[in-house]
Amino acid sequence: MCGIVAYTGCHEAYPILIKGLKRLEYRGYDSAGVALSQPEGIALYKCRGRVEDLDTLCSSKNCEAHTGIGHTRWATHGEPSTQNAHPHLSEDGKLALIHNGIVENYLVLKKELVSRGYHFQSDTDTEVLVHLIQDTLKNEQVSLPEAVKIALSSVVGTYALAILSADEPDQLILAKKGSPLLIGVGDNEYFIGSDGAPIVEYTKKVVYLEDGDVAVVSPNKKMVVMNINDNRKKRRYLQELEMNLDQLEKGGFEHYMLKEIFEQPKAIRDSMRGRLNVRKDVVSLGGIIEYETKMMNARRFIIVACGTSWHAGTVGEYLFESLVRIPVEVEYASECRYRNPLIYEDDVVIAISQSGETADTIAAVELAKQKGATVIGICNVVGSTLARATHAGSYTHAGPEIGVASTKAFTAQVTVLTLMALCLARRKGTISLSDYHQIINSLEDIPAKVEQVLKLNGQIAEFAKFFVNKTNAIYLGRGINYPVALEGALKLKEISYIHAEGYPSAEMKHGPIALIDEEMPVVVLATEQETYEKTVSNIQEVIARKGKIISIVTKGDKLVKEMSDYCIEIPETLELLTPLISCVPLQLLAYHVAVLRGCNVDKPRNLAKSVSVE
Ligand code: AGP
Ligand code: GLU
Repeated sequence: MCGIVAYTGCHEAYPILIKGLKRLEYRGYDSAGVALSQPEGIALYKCRGRVEDLDTLCSSKNCEAHTGIGHTRWATHGEPSTQNAHPHLSEDGKLALIHNGIVENYLVLKKELVSRGYHFQSDTDTEVLVHLIQDTLKNEQVSLPEAVKIALSSVVGTYALAILSADEPDQLILAKKGSPLLIGVGDNEYFIGSDGAPIVEYTKKVVYLEDGDVAVVSPNKKMVVMNINDNRKKRRYLQELEMNLDQLEKGGFEHYMLKEIFEQPKAIRDSMRGRLNVRKDVVSLGGIIEYETKMMNARRFIIVACGTSWHAGTVGEYLFESLVRIPVEVEYASECRYRNPLIYEDDVVIAISQSGETADTIAAVELAKQKGATVIGICNVVGSTLARATHAGSYTHAGPEIGVASTKAFTAQVTVLTLMALCLARRKGTISLSDYHQIINSLEDIPAKVEQVLKLNGQIAEFAKFFVNKTNAIYLGRGINYPVALEGALKLKEISYIHAEGYPSAEMKHGPIALIDEEMPVVVLATEQETYEKTVSNIQEVIARKGKIISIVTKGDKLVKEMSDYCIEIPETLELLTPLISCVPLQLLAYHVAVLRGCNVDKPRNLAKSVSVE
């Protein structure tokens, strides 16, 4: 997700824009730019890097203007570069546009615009918008706001836009669908932002645009809001921004980690966007399309990753073996790279990394390539080292993950792995049409089910009190929930510093059961699955030794709920999709325990967000 700021009024625009971008940098920080309305036309300054790099660039430029737009990018289409940075200009240089969102049908639009003679300067999806608007202006002979409405009616996807026109130097046009956009109303001036962070210093009176809205603002004029869905002017009421600045950058949450846990429905939706179309009964991943045949005919898959990404890869092992019926090995990248692994040309390696900069994973990728394997990446950072090192891949569109403990990246990775497995299984014919339909319909429902679990946040915060003075914990899971047990244990230990281990539930009898006593919390994933009765037996073994049970069960469960000291009920879904839901209470549990223990949740001791060293 990117950060958008814009301003029009009596003050100098640039200082407001650059400060606003610094406050939105948590939303994306791979490149930045501003467009300023000046007598000679639109001045455009942009560069790869952080907002401070943009500020350095602009320090030697003429930035005088009273109207302007600014953008800090989190790339989704087109790697981080100056060319791909926003704002994007129309060919005649009279329009500048910034965008937060994804234009799903940009390839179709781009092809049409190229056929009409438009030349593209970037690889982004965004650039189609500015050419589409110019083309509409030229062909329809309408006002710019009208042209924007007409152009956007052919766009599939999400957007928050700010548009500057050289012909209307003190006017801004704003549009919103699926991505947030606020308009701060000052005294004859307007402050626009992706959220309140760049606005709150100047005014607390804001208008939240609604999906389909197209707004026009100019100093000394009332804001005009129309909607592309019914072509009528809209009344959008002023609201009061009731947050302090620090809170705003975290969207009102106390920590980035909690914000990112709550962003998971959106992260999962965005990771499916343009890839899962239930009505057309299709799952397609553009980034691997050229390698689908290679992947379908792989002798085996080798998944390499570290930490949470390794846990996502272990979920992937169950998904791929179950759906694609090809053997999967999951390797710690740090182990794989040093043991001269047996990797062959008919192997396909899948490298998973949120940051795309984890040294061990990148080294494992290079080794696999040297041995002739095809390497597919699953990464959250466009243009990262890993993304550029692999033969092909699919991005998770989770947006920037600031909290060191990975949360939304995990569910986004599992989402992409599920789509990948479904896509290959469908092509390979290793899945029946009815099973395929059942899974894609259930997958579409997952974000809403995660939202239901997030509503249990208060209950889970209560349960966390039980852990505050504990020194150990055991997490148990079976089948596809075994990796979730590992992930839950990692979350607890890395932010609350309580020692926690995850085991396959049945494995407890082979040693760990010696640890069970009344001081030992045992978190058990006991959702409806084939081995439910076996899990019940495991729980009885723990109770027999006075262990305390915290269970995650399927909503409506009575048996395990009765046996548990604490029980969290989650919505039912297919066993294969359970990890996308069952991980959420474990993330929240770890978060609240860490907060209660006064730990630094977003920056746990000894840890870094990206382990780019060995
Ligand atoms: C997980 O919460 C940790 N932050 C850590 O294990 C992380 O998953 C690991 O370092 C891998 O990072 P990557 O996904 O960026 O490669
Ligand atoms: N899709 C646009 C790009 O890649 C905007 C990205 C975003 O909103 O994060 O430039």
